[in-house]
Amino acid sequence: MTTPVIETIKVTKTFNRGKPGEVTAVRDVSLKIDTGGLTILKGASGSGKTTLLSMIGCQSKPTSGEVIVHGKKISKLPEKFMNRHKREHIGFIFQHLQLLGDMSVLDNITLPLLPEGISPSERNDRADLLLKQFNLLHRRGFKVSTLSGGEQQRVAIARALINKGSILLADEPSAHLDGKLTIDLLDHINELKQAGQTILITSHDPVIYQHPTVDRIIEMKDGQII
Ligand SMILES: Nc1ncnc2c1ncn2[C@@H]1O[C@H](COP(=O)(O)OP(=O)(O)O)[C@@H](O)[C@H]1O
Ligand SMILES: [Mg+2]
Repeated sequence: MTTPVIETIKVTKTFNRGKPGEVTAVRDVSLKIDTGGLTILKGASGSGKTTLLSMIGCQSKPTSGEVIVHGKKISKLPEKFMNRHKREHIGFIFQHLQLLGDMSVLDNITLPLLPEGISPSERNDRADLLLKQFNLLHRRGFKVSTLSGGEQQRVAIARALINKGSILLADEPSAHLDGKLTIDLLDHINELKQAGQTILITSHDPVIYQHPTVDRIIEMKDGQII
C-alpha cells in the first residue's frame, strides 16, 4: 500500500468561533491523496474549497482534526516549522495570483527562496530555467503589472515551482482566464503531472474538471465531501 502524500483526518475549520457570524467552512473532512496525478476539488462557491486547500497548503490551521503532508502532522507544528514544511514541499497558486505588480518578473519568481539562504546565483539559475520553460525569458526584467494575463499566470506558476516542492496547489486557477488561457494552463499542469508532481486544484469550471488530464474529482458541498 502506498502512503498518501496528503491526508486529512476529520478536519474542521470554524471561523469566528463563539461569535456572531460563526461559520464552519469545512466539517469533518477526511481524504487521502497519493503521490502524483491531478485531483480536482470541485464544488459550488462557498462549499469550503479554498479553506480546505489553505489548510493543506500550510496557510492556515484547522480548528480540529489533522492535516498530514509528506508524513508530517502539519496541523500540530508551531508556525515556524509549518512555514519551513511549506517552503520544502508546497507550491501555491492563489486565486488572485498575488504577484507584486511593481516588482520584476525575476524578483517575483525568486521571492519564495529569500528565507532559504540560497545564493543569488543559484536563485537566478533556478529562475532562468523556469522562465525558459514558461516562455518568459524575454520578460525577465519587466514589471509584472505590464504583462498580459496569460504571462502573469505563468509567472504565478513559476513562482509556485521555484522551491522544487513536490506538491502543487492551485485555487480556482481559471477564475480570471479566458478559454484559450485555461487550456494553456492545463497543458502546463499536464506537463508537471507527467514530471511527477502531485497536483490539487479547486475549481467549479467544467473546462478544468472535465479535462482528460484530470485523474480524480473530489466534490464538496457545505463544507463536506460528498
Ligand atoms: N476568513 C473567513 N472568515 C469568515 N468566514 C469565512 C472565511 N473564509 C471563508 N469563510 C466562509 O466559509 C465558507 C467557505 O468558504 P470558502 O472556503 O472560501 O469556499 P469556496 O472556496 O468553496 O468558495 C463560506 O461561507 C465563506 O463565507
Ligand atoms: Mg474559493
